[in-house]
Amino acid sequence: MGSTSFGIPDHRFGSNGEKMPILGFGTAVLPPVGAEATKMAILQSIKLGYRHFDTAAKYGSEQPLGEAIQEALSIGLIQSRDELFITTKLWCGDAHGDLVVPALKRSLQNLKLEYLDLFLIHWPVSCKPGTYEFPIKEENFLPMDFNSVWAAMEECQRLNLTKSIGVSNFSCKKLTDILAIANIPPAVNQVEMNPMWQQKKLREFCRANGIFLTAYSPLGANGTFWGSDRVLECEVLKEIAKAKGKTAAQVSLRWIYEQGVGVIVKSFNGERMKQNLGIFDWSLDEDELKKIDELPQSRGVTGVAYTSKYGPFRTVEDIWDGEM
Ligand SMILES: NC(=O)c1ccc[n+]([C@@H]2O[C@H](COP(=O)([O-])OP(=O)(O)OC[C@H]3O[C@@H](n4cnc5c(N)ncnc54)[C@H](OP(=O)(O)O)[C@@H]3O)[C@@H](O)[C@H]2O)c1
Ligand SMILES: *[C@@H]1O[C@H](CO)[C@@H](O)[C@H](O)[C@H]1NC(C)=O
Ligand SMILES: *[C@@H]1O[C@H](CO)[C@@H](O)[C@H](O)[C@H]1NC(C)=O
Ligand SMILES: *[C@@H]1O[C@H](CO)[C@@H](O)[C@H](O)[C@H]1NC(C)=O
Repeated sequence: MGSTSFGIPDHRFGSNGEKMPILGFGTAVLPPVGAEATKMAILQSIKLGYRHFDTAAKYGSEQPLGEAIQEALSIGLIQSRDELFITTKLWCGDAHGDLVVPALKRSLQNLKLEYLDLFLIHWPVSCKPGTYEFPIKEENFLPMDFNSVWAAMEECQRLNLTKSIGVSNFSCKKLTDILAIANIPPAVNQVEMNPMWQQKKLREFCRANGIFLTAYSPLGANGTFWGSDRVLECEVLKEIAKAKGKTAAQVSLRWIYEQGVGVIVKSFNGERMKQNLGIFDWSLDEDELKKIDELPQSRGVTGVAYTSKYGPFRTVEDIWDGEM
């Protein structure tokens, strides 16, 4: 493991030797804050040392991220785009074999970039070609044809439009299905993970199969539509934080890091951006790890917005293949 800048360690992908800073900066904000505020927050984060940025066609943050990168280059915060690691995601309406490459090209245009570092399938479900609404209308859901969609993801990498490809919100079962047909296996699976939803089974599966797990909503997404304060207000985490002179947020991020998992954290507040970087020069002891390990588990993000009486997922259990 090397280190890019400001002490953020890198994950090195086995396949092509690419480096990904383990701590990334999230750009999904709901309710939305506007393009200018997003761009300013990203610029500030680059100043503080963030180099890995997570966006998605669905977030509306590709353009502000692209503008922030241009500005960072022009004012000399970075010398070259290669210093950054940029991830975006394929939306369900473009998750059809013939739409994947055009969708990535559109994202690159929004980002004003020639290549992406990582391109992820956002959710393991498709919807009617070219529909972009969210929540997705019940009648617009379609099962994803993994064969043609994954082949098109591989084509994106072969065309050098992206250095790596991966998935998001995939269960062990769905990863098994992808691995069975893949020429290029997914490099990453980005899923909800924090001390209240530890993903033990999926972590084990990903480790055994060389897929790097990255955690989203690492703080429980407090203050967003999909989140709650159950991580930040967790008594066990608060106690550990107090004993260590840290915050519950830092304890949660540090715990994720110590599990060998990547982290995407979002803060548009300068103090909290700094705080979230301060997790690499201390560690949790065995007793603390054990207490976290024993926390009661439940999913924060159920994916209920992705169920439909018309299928392919009729229930939340269907989405996660019973891996609840
Ligand atoms: N693949 C997917 O389907 C998926 C799904 C969800 C998210 N994501 C990605 O993961 C990123 C992170 O996840 P998330 O945004 O859901 O949740 P999160 O990072 O767990 O939480 C973000 C919330 O916590 C607050 N916060 C940040 N640092 C804090 C601290 N140190 N103390 C107290 N509060 C703090 C932020 O407010 P302030 O900004 O005011 O600090 C924000 O409201 C997203 O932005 C997105 O890029 C991906
Ligand atoms: C992609 O990049 C590699 C390495 O630089 C190069 O050999 C290859 O020809 C490129 N492929 C395309 C389709 O441009
Ligand atoms: C998957 O992605 C969606 C869209 O960003 C997100 O709202 C949801 O929480 C994710 N689901 C899980 C369980 O990882
Ligand atoms: C959680 O978010 C709410 C709403 O934004 C905020 O008032 C509260 O202070 C946050 N809790 C913590 C522990 O940061």
